[in-house]
Amino acid sequence: MMTQQARLARISAEFQAIYGTPPSAIVRAPGRVDLMGSHTDYNMGFVMTMPIDRDTWLAVRPRDDREVHLRSHNLAGHSQFSLHEIKHDPQVEWSNYVRGVARFMPNESLVGFDGLIDSTVPFGSGLSSSAALEMATVAAFLHLGDLSMDPVQMAIIGQRAENEFVGVKTGILDQYSSALGQTGCALQLDCRHLTSEPIPIDRSLAVVICNTNFKRQLVGSEYDDRRAQCLEGVYILRQHDPTIEALRDVTVAQFAEFSAEMPPIIAKRCRFIIEENQRVQQLADALAANDQHTLWQLFADSYNGARDLFEISVPAMDAMIAAMRSAPGSVAARQTGAGFGGCMVALVEQERVAEFSAYVAQTYRATTQIEPEIYAVSASAGAGLLQ
Ligand code: GLA
Repeated sequence: MMTQQARLARISAEFQAIYGTPPSAIVRAPGRVDLMGSHTDYNMGFVMTMPIDRDTWLAVRPRDDREVHLRSHNLAGHSQFSLHEIKHDPQVEWSNYVRGVARFMPNESLVGFDGLIDSTVPFGSGLSSSAALEMATVAAFLHLGDLSMDPVQMAIIGQRAENEFVGVKTGILDQYSSALGQTGCALQLDCRHLTSEPIPIDRSLAVVICNTNFKRQLVGSEYDDRRAQCLEGVYILRQHDPTIEALRDVTVAQFAEFSAEMPPIIAKRCRFIIEENQRVQQLADALAANDQHTLWQLFADSYNGARDLFEISVPAMDAMIAAMRSAPGSVAARQTGAGFGGCMVALVEQERVAEFSAYVAQTYRATTQIEPEIYAVSASAGAGLLQ
């Protein structure tokens, strides 16, 4: 990867070439990797998430006509809109994340800007490239308007942009992670109360992304199906216990008692979520104690459940997990993001990351004929001005 200094020089020069003046500020927001807790967020449960040092930068300069003009270093097209009338851009789709955020920010105080985006979060690969752009946009509006905002509120605005403007019914995980990240720590997130605890990861462990480079397909419709199935489970369980509002509220024992009444597919989906929630809580202890046996088991159970119960794996992910599990230095391996392709995540002995990466790349390539990308990431701070 480029050094921060080289990236700064590049974005400044590019901004100057496009807009004729240098940017007045650069804001950034990180992508994220979830270490445990697949699809638990919209079930009001728990996630162990880690904001990463792959991030989205937005270089800006204020305008005095309340217009926003946008370009991207990574993606084609340019888009512009007025803060007086914020509509969809059906052509330049990436601009809709910025437009959506502008729609849900307190409008009177917003300042328009010329903006240039530069991202190192891979697009559509399960590391939250869209949330990083949303949170960078909130940070830009805050900076330019000399405003301040609680980071949880920033995350909620991003989620509204995604749900109500872009039209994807995701949970709060991605935006929360990008807004509230902390250097050097994972976050144990409670999606009902929108609170989190920092969880340090032992220095002897590296967090390694294994991108299958298998483009996610049907992820939108499959995602909506899973959401609906979880909700169906809640309706059935509520008939026994009306205090149940979400799968978060269901214990393993309660589930065992009533699961036979559920259509088998609904029971599989619910079981995964209920067990996954438990695993998030167990992971916090295992990380604190650097208990590698438990780390391995929790990650393995999570992947096996994602494959057999929640059914969000694809053959490329199965090939990747086999490579990750048998690689030198491998401590734990599982899926990340929504599933159906994209990135996976491993905990790896720090000194053996190079060996691990070479082995995984070679083994995965030999099985799938796809070239993967393998790299270590570290926990990064949440959205704000570039430091
Ligand atoms: C996507 C969504 C999140 C979350 C994950 C699965 O990343 O945007 O809200 O549901 O999938 O855990």
